[in-house]
Amino acid sequence: MVPFKFNFGGQHAAATDVDAVDEQTNQQTGTDHSVTVHQLTSTQQHTPNIQSFDTITIPHTTPTLTLQKIHISSTNNSISELTTKNDVVSGVYEGGFKLWECTVDLIQLLADVKSGIKQRSGKLPADTHVLHSLQQIVTDSPKLKVLELGCGHALPAIYCLNHLNAAHTVVQDMNAEVIDTCTIPNIVRNTSQQMVSDLADRVTCVSGSWQSEKMLSTLLQSVQSSVSSTPTFNLILTAETIYNLNTMPALLSLIINTLSDNGVCLVAAKRYYFGVGGSTTELLHQLKTKPQYQKMLRAEVLRVMDDGKSNVREIIAIVKR
Ligand SMILES: C[S@@+](CC[C@H](N)C(=O)[O-])C[C@H]1O[C@@H](n2cnc3c(N)ncnc32)[C@H](O)[C@@H]1O
Repeated sequence: MVPFKFNFGGQHAAATDVDAVDEQTNQQTGTDHSVTVHQLTSTQQHTPNIQSFDTITIPHTTPTLTLQKIHISSTNNSISELTTKNDVVSGVYEGGFKLWECTVDLIQLLADVKSGIKQRSGKLPADTHVLHSLQQIVTDSPKLKVLELGCGHALPAIYCLNHLNAAHTVVQDMNAEVIDTCTIPNIVRNTSQQMVSDLADRVTCVSGSWQSEKMLSTLLQSVQSSVSSTPTFNLILTAETIYNLNTMPALLSLIINTLSDNGVCLVAAKRYYFGVGGSTTELLHQLKTKPQYQKMLRAEVLRVMDDGKSNVREIIAIVKR
């Protein structure tokens, strides 16, 4: 699992016009972030025997919860050179091949909500309205529609698929290579034999940039063609995705436009990211002060992970007003 570290390489997006920066960077690197839906039709092709997996244990879960994550070596992906030298290359590769710390916090919270544990640490109220809504959402499998934005290994979405029996799950990553060689093998590997056959009906994998015009319609179409006539998600998950102030508005816009009226979005992230501007503090500030969010969204810190030594991690719940 990757601790807190961002060694940005390549073009660092310092400009405010993210689309322009991404476009320029992508032209230089030949990286294409156009929106693509990846089919999960032939599951066999995604699980060649040569792949090896690591076991990820979610702390303090009873019975102990484990998930399998593909072991990424620099030889099994086409952007290997970037991934061995840098955790993130802004606008080109945003860290999807690695498993980041807050993703485990997010799964732990979901597992706790499922088993009725309301609080682990920190000085938060033991019970809140949002926690209550979350409990209802995660226990109503037939209606559970999950979106994981910036999924990488997609372990939180996989948890929802397998342990919450979500009716439909959509996962999104910037890089098509991440979806094909990391996300999909993980989904197949973690799914029991009986469920593999109906995976294609229950999971949609999307690659592409949040800033792309087609991202919103693709995400909404993915869920519309599945379980219900309401093309929105009642559970949106996102871990370690708010570090960049330039891309935060695109991410928040997707959340606003894909979250159902009674849904909950959980953002797991750090209170501080060195040198890049994003943080949970900044997210909360923007949601409280910017007119485009203020009237529409309400945010609440659900959990704080603070061991007194490392960077403080938080889980923020966002709901519609
Ligand atoms: C630091 S990684 C975190 C991955 C995973 N959620 C985890 O915690 O292990 C950030 C993720 O957000 C996605 N991402 C970041 N910026 C993006 C953008 N502008 N458009 C689309 N995806 C983006 C990346 O593809 C990557 O999967």
